[in-house]
Amino acid sequence: MERKNGNPLSYGDYLQVQKLLNCQTLSSAGDKPVHDEHLFIITHQTYELWFKQVLFELDSVRELFMTPVLDESKTLVIISRLNRVVQIFRLLVDQFLILETMTPLDFLEFRGNLEKASGFQSLQFRLLENKLGVKEESRIKYNQQHYQSVFSDTKSMELLKDSLESPSLLILLQRWLERTPGLEDNVFNFWKKYQISVNRWLEEKLLQPVEKETDPKRKETMMAEYQKEKDTFDSILNIDKYNMYVERGERRLSHKAFQGALVISLYRDLPRFNQPFQVLTLLTDIDSLLTKWRYNHVMLVQRMIGSKVGTGGSSGYQYLRATISDRYKAFLDLFNLSTFLIPREYQPPLTTNIKRRLSILSLSKQEEEGVSSGSDSNSGSSADVVDGSPAPDDGDTGANKKVVFE
Ligand code: HEM
Repeated sequence: MERKNGNPLSYGDYLQVQKLLNCQTLSSAGDKPVHDEHLFIITHQTYELWFKQVLFELDSVRELFMTPVLDESKTLVIISRLNRVVQIFRLLVDQFLILETMTPLDFLEFRGNLEKASGFQSLQFRLLENKLGVKEESRIKYNQQHYQSVFSDTKSMELLKDSLESPSLLILLQRWLERTPGLEDNVFNFWKKYQISVNRWLEEKLLQPVEKETDPKRKETMMAEYQKEKDTFDSILNIDKYNMYVERGERRLSHKAFQGALVISLYRDLPRFNQPFQVLTLLTDIDSLLTKWRYNHVMLVQRMIGSKVGTGGSSGYQYLRATISDRYKAFLDLFNLSTFLIPREYQPPLTTNIKRRLSILSLSKQEEEGVSSGSDSNSGSSADVVDGSPAPDDGDTGANKKVVFE
C-alpha cells in the first residue's frame, strides 16, 4: 500500500484517488474542449468499475456452486451476493439517465475523436455475458465480425477463453438443479406425479367444459384453447420435443434441471425450497435487468446518433436493437417456468418419503406416522399409489439431520 513519506495511511493513499482522478483525458482537450466529454468519460468509467464488481461477485458465486455439496449456509452467501449484483444492475440501468443530459449536438462535437473506439470493445461486458451463460451461437454478428475479433492482446484473449471454458453460472445452476430432492424415482418421482396432475387439470378445467358446451362455435373455440394448452405442456412432458427446443436454442436447461426448477417453483412455500427459490428469482432478476440495460443503452444510442453507423463499425441502432432478445437471456427457462405452473390444489401432494428427504417431518410426527419403524402412513394416498416404490431404509430420522441442499 502506497504511503506518502512514511505518513499514516490516508483516504487518498488507500483508495489511490489521485490515480483514479488522473484518468479522465478529454480527446477534445486543447483549443476547443467539449464540456460534456468529461461526463461521457466518467460515465463509461463508472460502468467499467461496476462491471468489475459484478464480475468479482459472479466469480465467487460460481466458486461456491462448484463445491460438491452446497449446504444452506453457502446458499445464503450465494443469495446475498446475487442480490448485490441485482442492486448494482438496478443502478446501472438508471445510470444512462445522467448521460442523456448530454445533447446529440454536443456529442457530435467530439464523436469524431473517438475514431474506432466503441463499447463493443468492452472486455468486461463480454466476460460478464459469458460467465452468466450467454451462448456463443446465440450472439448476433455484425459485419460478419465475431465479437472476439476486436480483442487482439494476449491477456484479453486468455480471459475470454477462460470465460468460455470454465463453467458458466447457467451450467452450474443446471448441475445443481439436476440434484433437486424429489426428482429421484424411488423417493417421490415428481415428474411422474406432475404429468398425472397436469392431465387431470387440463381435463377438469378445459376438456370437461368443452364436452358440456352446446353452442358449436363456442365449442370449437374452447376445443382449440384446450389443444393449444395441451400442446404447450406436451413441449415439456414429451422429452423428445423438449430436447428439440434445446437444440434450437430456445431452451437452455437439461430436462432434468428443468424438472428441478419446476419442483422448486411449485413447492417454494416449503422451508427447504425457500432459499433455492430465491436463487432462481435473483437469476431471473439479473437477466431481466441486463435486458433493461440493453434497452436503455439502445434508446440512448438512438437519441445520440439516430441511425448513423457505430464507431465500432456496426449498423448502430439496428444491431443493438437485435440484441434485446431472448437469445441473450442466459436463464430464459426460468422466465418460462410460469407457463408450466399448475394451481396449488392440483400439485402432487408430498409423501412421507419426500418429507423425510426434505427433513421437514418433525420427529413426533414421524413417530406418529410410524416412519421410524419403516412404514409409510401415506401409502394409501393417490400420490403414493402412483409412486409405488418403497422408501429407501436409510435410517434418516429427518428432524435431527443437518439440512443439506446438495
Ligand atoms: C453517447 C453514448 C453512447 C453511444 C452513442 C453508444 C453507441 C454504441 C454503439 C453504436 C454500439 C454498437 C457497436 C458499434 O458499432 O460501435 C455500442 C455498443 C456498446 N456500448 Fe455503447 N454507446 C454509448 C454509451 C455507452 C455506455 C455509457 C456504455 C457503458 C459501458 C456503453 C457500452 C456499450 C457496450 C458494452 C456495447 C456492446 C453491446 C453489444 O455488442 O451487445 N455504451 N454503443
